[in-house]
Amino acid sequence: MILVIGATGMLGNEICRRLRKEDNPVRAMVRETSDPVKVNKLQELGVEIVRGDLRKSSTFKPVLRDVTTVITTASSMPFSYVPNENDPLLVDRNGMISLVDESRLAGVTRFIYTSFSGQIDLDFPLRNAKRAVEQNLQNNGMVYTILRPSCFMEAWLSPMVGFDAANAKVRLCGEGTKPLSYISLFDVAWFAVESLKNPYARNAVLELGGPEKLSQLDAVKIFEELSGKKFEIEHVPVEALSSQLQSAADPMEKSFAGLMLCVANGDPIDMRNTLGKFNIKLKSVRDFARSMVAVA
Ligand SMILES: NC(=O)c1ccc[n+]([C@@H]2O[C@H](COP(=O)([O-])OP(=O)(O)OC[C@H]3O[C@@H](n4cnc5c(N)ncnc54)[C@H](OP(=O)(O)O)[C@@H]3O)[C@@H](O)[C@H]2O)c1
Repeated sequence: MILVIGATGMLGNEICRRLRKEDNPVRAMVRETSDPVKVNKLQELGVEIVRGDLRKSSTFKPVLRDVTTVITTASSMPFSYVPNENDPLLVDRNGMISLVDESRLAGVTRFIYTSFSGQIDLDFPLRNAKRAVEQNLQNNGMVYTILRPSCFMEAWLSPMVGFDAANAKVRLCGEGTKPLSYISLFDVAWFAVESLKNPYARNAVLELGGPEKLSQLDAVKIFEELSGKKFEIEHVPVEALSSQLQSAADPMEKSFAGLMLCVANGDPIDMRNTLGKFNIKLKSVRDFARSMVAVA
C-alpha cells in the first residue's frame, strides 16, 4: 500500500492520479477539515481515505497500517496556514519529523519527501523545517528520495504571487533578471512516481528544475509574445524583501519574504545529469504560457 500525505493539495492529487492510473493501491491521509469535494475526487480515483493530521501522531497508527511506501507533499503553506495552529513549525517540521519516525516503526521501507531547491537557503521557518526533515529522513534507515523542486510554474507564474497574465499585470521579485528553473508540478509528480521504480532515486536527493533557465522577465516576454499584450511590470525591491524577512514575526510572512528573496536571487538548476537517468520531456514555460493564454 502506498500512502500519500498531502493528497488534497495540487501536487499530491496529481501523484494520486498517476499512481491509480498504474493501478497501485493508494491510501490518502486527509484531515477532518479537508475540502469534501477534493476528498470525493480522490475516492472517485479509487483512493482509500483515512483521517489523520500531521500534528497528531496519535492518528498515524491506522493510517500507516500495511503501508510499505510513503509519499508526502503536505505543507501548511500557503493554503492550509493557520497562525500558531497549522504552521511551518507544527506541521512542516515537527509533524513531518514524527511521521518519518512513526513510518519506520510501522515497517515502512520507502519514503519520498517533497522538499524544495537546495538553493533556497536563507534562514526562514519553512526552509528550516524542510532541511530538518531531510536530515531526519536521511538518518532514519528507510530508503529515501528527497525531491527538491524549484518554483512550480503553476504557482509562481500565477495571480497567487502577483503574476496576473490574464490582466497583463505582473509583480516581480527584485529586478527579475536572475535565472530560475521553473518546473511544472505535473513533472514533479512524474518524478515522485518514477522514483518508486528508478534505481537512481534510491537514497537520493533530486534537485528538480524545468528544461531551461529563464529569468522572471524572460517569462514575462514569453507571455507577452503569446498573448500579443504588453505587460505592466511592478518590481518589489530586494531591500524591501530583505527587511520584510528580518522584521516579520509571522512565520507565513517571514517564509514568503524568504521565498521571494530566493526567487529574486535566482534558482538555476542544471538538469543534464538527472535527465541522463530519468526519461522525461520536461514542460517548458512556453508550453505552460500557451495553455494559459488559450484559456484566457
Ligand atoms: N509551490 C511551489 O513553487 C513549490 C516549489 C517547490 C516545492 N514545493 C513543495 O511542494 C509541496 C506540495 O505543494 P502543493 O502546492 O501541492 O501544496 P498545497 O496544494 O498547499 O497542499 C498542501 C497539502 O498539505 C495538507 N496539509 C496541510 N496541513 C496538514 C496537516 N496538519 N496534516 C496533514 N496534511 C496537511 C493539505 O491538506 P488540507 O487540504 O486538509 O489543507 C494539502 O493536502 C509542498 O511541500 C511545497 O512546499 C512547492
